[in-house]
Amino acid sequence: MQYQISQNSAAEVQASCIVVTLDQSGKLSDAARVIDQASAGFLSARVDARDIEGKKAQTLLLPAVPGIQAQRVLLAGIGKDTPDATGAIKVLQAIAAATKNIDGGIVLALGELASTDLPESWWAEQAAIAFGNAQYRFSETKSKAGDEEPARQPQSLTWLGSDVSAALSRGDAIAQGVSFARELGNMPPNICTPTYLAVQAEMLAADGLEVTVLDEEELEKMGAGAFVSVAKGSSEPGKMIVMKYNGAGSNAPAHMILGKGITFDTGGISLKPGAKMDEMKYDMCGAASVFGTMKTLLALKPAINVIGMVTSAENMPAGNASKPGDVVTSLSGKTIEILNTDAEGRLVLCDALTYGIDHFKPASVVDIATLTGACMAALGEVNSGLFTQDEALAAELQNAAEYSCDKVWRLPLEDDYQELLDSNFADMANIGGPLAGATTAACFLSRFTEGTPWAHLDIAGTAWTGGKAKGATGRPVPLLVNYLLAK
Ligand code: BES
Ligand code: MN
Ligand code: ZN
Repeated sequence: MQYQISQNSAAEVQASCIVVTLDQSGKLSDAARVIDQASAGFLSARVDARDIEGKKAQTLLLPAVPGIQAQRVLLAGIGKDTPDATGAIKVLQAIAAATKNIDGGIVLALGELASTDLPESWWAEQAAIAFGNAQYRFSETKSKAGDEEPARQPQSLTWLGSDVSAALSRGDAIAQGVSFARELGNMPPNICTPTYLAVQAEMLAADGLEVTVLDEEELEKMGAGAFVSVAKGSSEPGKMIVMKYNGAGSNAPAHMILGKGITFDTGGISLKPGAKMDEMKYDMCGAASVFGTMKTLLALKPAINVIGMVTSAENMPAGNASKPGDVVTSLSGKTIEILNTDAEGRLVLCDALTYGIDHFKPASVVDIATLTGACMAALGEVNSGLFTQDEALAAELQNAAEYSCDKVWRLPLEDDYQELLDSNFADMANIGGPLAGATTAACFLSRFTEGTPWAHLDIAGTAWTGGKAKGATGRPVPLLVNYLLAK
């Protein structure tokens, strides 16, 4: 996709389609009025006839509007007043969906929607993200995918207004990262294995990341007993993957993001029920968000240092799989009683935290994991769960979440919950009983992060959607990118 800026008049700009807005009272935007005047009232006639009312995210595509240069006009409703961030993104998504099969150039006359809260650069960034996302299709494992989808799509996006080209590039780069995360998440689990993820990392090495892959044997020798207790039950070898983006020179601090990469979670010997078990291919979406974020960084080349780490295994029942009651020794030396083999995410994460913190001494660590059904029950598909005792890190992540509308809700991580992990036979158990399940999972991880600013994002409810529109969302790539760019 090409991006341009233009200050041309809405009636005179050349385009396959120009997008203008109206509000719920039927009031046309300034740009829409320019077109209305040039076309002798073509738009207001449609509004008077109630073909469109201006409700939020309502659209009406008008071909052959007389008196203007553009071939089509898309009228888009913005609702009552200038929309808030969530509403604005809904409007932009509707615009992107309504124009996704139009060949040629799309012109967006949306600058006048900007406000102090949502400046023009924000609108431009979100527009580029919405257009990028609208172009995403999963076709990798469909034999005739090429024939089903029309090949028509916009080739360029022109912003009518101020010079917001940096914001457009940023949005485009975020959309690339989101698409990459969605693609990895959607990939079937017989293809997307830990080895496949390691190959993806090696491919990013060609684009400028420094990549190291630790294999299961090496991790076993090193003493990563928690990681190995999960990986050993599968014939697919587990991997830890490290991807370094160095944009700020070796003396600057590095910030780490660490993703859970369980490429399929059967639950292990504590087997999950069968219904919707296919969705456990998405248990690597934390890892996918790390890959997506690294992809965006490679496109934007910001002056920061970021370590993207992925801890990846398949959780299977097997003759040699871990059993409830097994006690294993983690890389930190702390022992863990595995009371439920389905609480595997924290086991692969805890050794990765120990390894990452010991080896790279990062200035901060954020882990991202589809960790608990309990978090999904609490927050649904709207907010990711945010857990941290570090107020500064909490504020940074909350600001980034708000800006990118990739929302988080803070949940408790008080020391009072730690005792739920007490075990009679090891330093800790891997589950904390039926209460506060998302918090006890975070408490478990906290024991492997002492002395380092650390936050945990539970994305169990936000990483994919189920039902008919089943698919990975690419969240929280926008949040992670905005968080890192603000460093
Ligand atoms: N990957 C799951 C969490 C999950 C379940 C995410 C459903 C999204 C939808 C995780 O490994 C898991 O199985 N967690 C258990 C923990 C429990 C055994 C303490 C859970 O949430 O049930
Ligand atoms: Mn599990
Ligand atoms: Zn899992």
